[in-house]
Amino acid sequence: MDLSTDYMGLKLKHPLVASSSPLSDSLEGIKLLEDSGISAVVMYSLFEEQIRRDNEAFDFLLQSGTESFAESLNYFPHLDTEHKGSEQYLNLVRKAVEATDIPIIASLNGVTNVGWIDYAKQIQQAGASALELNVYFIPTDLEMTPISVEQCYFDILKAVKSAVSIPVAIKLSPFFSATGNMAKRLDEEGVDALVLFNRFYQPDINLETLTIDPHTELSTPAEIRLPLLWIAVLYGQIKASLAASRGVHSSTEIIKYLMAGADVVMVASILMKKGPKYLQVLLNETEQWLSARGYHSVNEVRGMMSRKNIKNPGALERVNYIKVLESFENPFASGIARSR
Ligand SMILES: Cc1cc2nc3c(=O)[nH]c(=O)nc-3n(C[C@H](O)[C@H](O)[C@H](O)COP(=O)(O)O)c2cc1C
Repeated sequence: MDLSTDYMGLKLKHPLVASSSPLSDSLEGIKLLEDSGISAVVMYSLFEEQIRRDNEAFDFLLQSGTESFAESLNYFPHLDTEHKGSEQYLNLVRKAVEATDIPIIASLNGVTNVGWIDYAKQIQQAGASALELNVYFIPTDLEMTPISVEQCYFDILKAVKSAVSIPVAIKLSPFFSATGNMAKRLDEEGVDALVLFNRFYQPDINLETLTIDPHTELSTPAEIRLPLLWIAVLYGQIKASLAASRGVHSSTEIIKYLMAGADVVMVASILMKKGPKYLQVLLNETEQWLSARGYHSVNEVRGMMSRKNIKNPGALERVNYIKVLESFENPFASGIARSR
């Protein structure tokens, strides 16, 4: 079975990539992922806030009144203790590159296009094979227009692309009014891959303490639907590679993502839950499913269920949504049919 795949020019032995998580925040963790058979590792993120703190030039954004940025400081409450500084990050990239034979993809997480972009260059010099940008941005400032929100992404991409020659991926938010058009324009601006999607940690309210509770939960398989839809829509329409990142807990999700058109499928929660060695189960099950149906490579199935290749593209659109709603019956209704 030929499971090999190309992800933004990186030749990978199979499509399973470890996405950014605490599993990749140490050399031991990265080596364990490699020993478990992963094809590439996205390192945990280096946050813009960490870089700024390290540079002691942090005041300027707070003074410039960027409310949403100040808010993000509250969102990442324990950066100093939970995450290492920028020097340690670069050291870890160097060591991981030396100690492994798989591509090491570094991850930068930020919202502005100044200061921390220099680290993109240093990450390349440290030997990373590629860079993933996680633009974690919650536009809570009601004066911000969609155009200015979108511009943040383009500014960051442009600044990073002009600083490095390694491939650059963007981990995208699903919250755009025109997600497809956003993907298309990022593609035109030269992004090498889109990672669909960033998983925003939506804070809860603790009713006992009456505080905002920013706890994180691992994903569930039901979460694949949104990335699955957009991968199916984008497949064959943009040059950039497509990475599926969310909700993979078994070979079922992996195969669905490949059929929608993903070049790689990323995993975090399942490996955190079951341990990196569980990767072999995921791989074996995927291989068995493919060979039981007479396929010889992942390329044969990639995109076969994409919008471009299905007989009825409407199945991905509004018409199907209406049908789905109509298929539900109100168990309390007295029998008057709903008509649309
Ligand atoms: C505990 C934890 C920490 C994470 N840290 C990061 C991070 O530093 N940077 C990032 O881009 N994504 C981070 N993620 C998101 C994952 O990379 C991934 O996109 C998300 O968990 C969805 O994939 P999954 O369903 O396989 O978990 C984190 C996820 C978890 C569960």
